[in-house]
Amino acid sequence: MSRKAIIAANWKMNMTPTEARTFLDAFLPKFPEATGVDIVIAPSFLTMPMAAAQIVPNAAVDISAQNMSAEASGAYTGEVSAAMLKEVGTKYVILGHSERRSLYGEDDAIINKKVLAALENGFSPILCIGETLEEREGGKLEDVLRGQVQGSLAGVSAEQMANVVIAYEPVWAIGTGVTASPEQAQEAHAFVRSLLQEQYDEAVAGATRIQYGGSAKPGNAAELISQADIDGFLVGGASLDPESFAAIIQAGVDAA
Ligand code: PGA
Repeated sequence: MSRKAIIAANWKMNMTPTEARTFLDAFLPKFPEATGVDIVIAPSFLTMPMAAAQIVPNAAVDISAQNMSAEASGAYTGEVSAAMLKEVGTKYVILGHSERRSLYGEDDAIINKKVLAALENGFSPILCIGETLEEREGGKLEDVLRGQVQGSLAGVSAEQMANVVIAYEPVWAIGTGVTASPEQAQEAHAFVRSLLQEQYDEAVAGATRIQYGGSAKPGNAAELISQADIDGFLVGGASLDPESFAAIIQAGVDAA
């Protein structure tokens, strides 16, 4: 089964519009044409319009939001709607990131509403899942991943799954410098794929792209992406430097 790799920069609450311009001036010329992988950049909402003006005309790179309201419009102070994101050319929306789950109280039910809203609006959700260290050490890895996959994808059809990307991000590896070993990551990815087979069928399980996230960097990207069930990366820290993000992408291009 050949799946096109997808490598995404999650800038989190970094990069002012001015800083993003400097990054993109250095980064975009490295990828003037479509590569063998999908490249995605997720700036903050405020940085998005300026970044989109540079990213959207570039054939090799797409823009993503880091979050989205499940509501269409109205009295939701501080929230950003699908219609707003559409106007700036958004293609992907990161949903259910562990920081949203742990710091802002988003549970699988909330994330599920957002996933459904994103799909209805024609976006591709990048659905983040992953266990904490306590959960892993307590033998709960599979239960946690099963609950997140089933809960976040409730009501998503097999057809809609063609537009869903899953990011497996062990919480203990995010921003810590500790990366899951290729074996640990492969085992978790294969398990997530088996959950998709249970919930859908073999075709959906085989076609869904599953990214790895958690201290992905130029030094470990090639080995991780060579694993059978790892289809790209969601990159935080190492995506803030154009050279290191480009090196991670190059690992994906070389493996394609
Ligand atoms: P990190 O973040 O690469 O800095 O570990 C990944 C993520 O949270 O998406």
